[in-house]
Amino acid sequence: MLETVQKIHDESRQGEAIAPVGGDNGVYIKKFYIESYGCQMNFNDSEIVASILNQEGFGATRNVDEADLVLLNTCSIREKAEQTVRQRLTEFKKTKKNKPGFLVGVLGCMAERLKAKFLEEEKLVDLVVGPDAYRTLPALIEEAGTGQKAINVLLSREETYGDISPVRLDSNGVTAFVSIMRGCNNMCSFCVVPFTRGRERSRDPHSILAEATDLFERGYREVTLLGQNVDSYYFVDENKDETVTFALLLEKVAAISPLLRVRFSTSHPKDITDDVLHAMARRENICNYIHLPVQSGSNRILQLMNRTYTREWYMKKIDRIREILPDCALSTDVITGFCTETEEDHQDTLAVMDYVKYELAYMFAYSERPGTLAARRYTDDVPEDVKKRRLAEVVALHRRHSLEGMQKEVGKICKVLVEGVSKRSDAQHFGRNDQNKVVVFPKGNTQKGDYVMVKIEDCTAGTLIGTIVPA
Ligand code: SAH
Ligand code: SF4
Ligand code: F3S
Repeated sequence: MLETVQKIHDESRQGEAIAPVGGDNGVYIKKFYIESYGCQMNFNDSEIVASILNQEGFGATRNVDEADLVLLNTCSIREKAEQTVRQRLTEFKKTKKNKPGFLVGVLGCMAERLKAKFLEEEKLVDLVVGPDAYRTLPALIEEAGTGQKAINVLLSREETYGDISPVRLDSNGVTAFVSIMRGCNNMCSFCVVPFTRGRERSRDPHSILAEATDLFERGYREVTLLGQNVDSYYFVDENKDETVTFALLLEKVAAISPLLRVRFSTSHPKDITDDVLHAMARRENICNYIHLPVQSGSNRILQLMNRTYTREWYMKKIDRIREILPDCALSTDVITGFCTETEEDHQDTLAVMDYVKYELAYMFAYSERPGTLAARRYTDDVPEDVKKRRLAEVVALHRRHSLEGMQKEVGKICKVLVEGVSKRSDAQHFGRNDQNKVVVFPKGNTQKGDYVMVKIEDCTAGTLIGTIVPA
């Protein structure tokens, strides 16, 4: 899997990494420990869960031994993601044995996919709660506290948690996620998300704007608007008789302050509009970066995947982006070894990658997910070693492209939002430029949350290295 700093920001695409979260400083009677797996939306959901639990007198802790309740917010996107969670669960066995009243809960997509089966398969688990049922957590915890197993995996057509103000866990105080919608109505044949997250619904724009404004007032300088398919955001405001599209929402969030950067993820190639591209061009603070997953470069495979576009259509979309936003960075997701994929299909994928030269890519070997269209209709017939070999080829090609992309930045001056101290050295700060590239530089007098101009002098495959220049 590709090693980039982006993995901090998008774990789903890195293969289910763990990020223990915690860090609330209120006075609480009970303590919970939460770990999140999967995508940014799951991480943001954990912050919603933290808010609900705070109301109930539970404070977050980073120390499992101190916790009365352990929650794993899980991901089902690939088989490995689920295996990781099962493995992690076994590690709580001892604590559970030694600590009466200690509860273990499974939240998120795996809870939704496996439902009551989870309780049968994993005796250790006391609570199983799906992504739309977090408001019922307090009641479920109480129920589990009496020794019963508690479960709620009902999906909703309305729930957006719009009124809940997420408690920022493990925050850098500068960048934050804001969910703008939930669920997905696309039926990509490989994907479990429509089953685990339910129907698509858009959150009230007022609550989105209020949350982003509050973040800005608290010193945050960047929000990433999240959804499985942000370009299909659509909200009809009955009071004002206003229809808010994603392009309009972007403009509204960007209008909060020129000092607030706006990012978004993910865009489905079929849905991103010229209006969105024009909004990005108009507003300096909407970052020049689009994650536009291609999945495959073969028309035959794209059709089997039910992606609803062709390679030609995708490449035209890329041309359009470059026309309206000449400096826009592009990233993608690629799956290798999908059902029936031939060497020729694989070459088509490499050719599209060559055409676009993505700045970032998240690349995966196909993993069949029970219940999906592909699992029901097609045979997972590409041998594992072939999937892996093709994946290695895709990764190698991408590395070349991303390094070339980084090298092109050397000599340029870019605006960087300072996010914190660099892992390399205490004397250095790191941040990202408009295009989402990580920049490291000697910190001088800069503070977290400042914008600085940095002259790029060198680079590695994942990082630009430079020095501050006067604005
Ligand atoms: N909504 C996002 C994707 C969320 S899942 C979108 O449409 O882009 C993130 C990525 O995981 C997908 O883009 C896909 O590349 C990968 N993925 C999803 N299901 C997979 C599977 N069954 N096997 C391998 N990779 C998968
Ligand atoms: Fe899955 Fe496709 Fe929806 Fe993305 S758009 S979440 S890949 S079904
Ligand atoms: Fe995983 Fe669910 Fe996100 S399956 S990628 S946590 S929507």
